[in-house]
Amino acid sequence: MADVVVVRAGADDRDDARDVRLRALAESPGAFASSLEREQVFDDAEWLHRVTTNAWFLVRADGATVGLACGVPEPDDDAGRHLVGMWVEPAFRGRGLADLLVAAVMAWARRARAEYVALWVVDGNDRALGFYERLGFEATGERQPLPGNPDVMEARMRLLL
Ligand SMILES: CC(C)(COP(=O)(O)OP(=O)(O)OC[C@H]1O[C@@H](n2cnc3c(N)ncnc32)[C@H](O)[C@@H]1OP(=O)(O)O)[C@@H](O)C(=O)NCCC(=O)NCCS
Repeated sequence: MADVVVVRAGADDRDDARDVRLRALAESPGAFASSLEREQVFDDAEWLHRVTTNAWFLVRADGATVGLACGVPEPDDDAGRHLVGMWVEPAFRGRGLADLLVAAVMAWARRARAEYVALWVVDGNDRALGFYERLGFEATGERQPLPGNPDVMEARMRLLL
């Protein structure tokens, strides 16, 4: 097994964060409420803003960045935090790296004394659904069209801290 480490991205990691995020959008275009077309034109200032405003966690295996998860505020609720951008490079899936990324986001949320972490998962993304359920996330029953693609619905899940 590779030497695996999860790091919180800082300003100096913004190129790395940009690279892994764009790879995620290219590899899993249906999984996220954004697109490669939208984000590949973001300039350096935008990436700097993104990694320094929210909590970007990168997982590195033998020094190569192979996954990403972000913690962001929960819209309209100071008691919650939101998990977005979850992605692990296909060759590294099923090896526990995603667990490490979620654990980092949970620890970040706990340090902020948040009461829960929530997320949205699109209908049909059964691997992600199974993964989140294994970690204890439960569907809240809330559903909405995927922002940017109203033909696809997504479901909200939540894990109490
Ligand atoms: C979601 C993601 C980060 C999870 O990481 P992972 O390393 O693949 O996760 P794991 O393999 O630990 O867990 C996936 C679980 O789903 C199961 N699974 C795999 N394929 C499945 C399928 N088609 N249907 C249902 N369950 C499936 C796996 O067996 C595993 O369960 P287990 O741990 O009980 O064996 C990763 O798959 C990924 O990057 N996917 C593409 C991007 C994405 O969908 N992001 C989520 C946006 S909300």
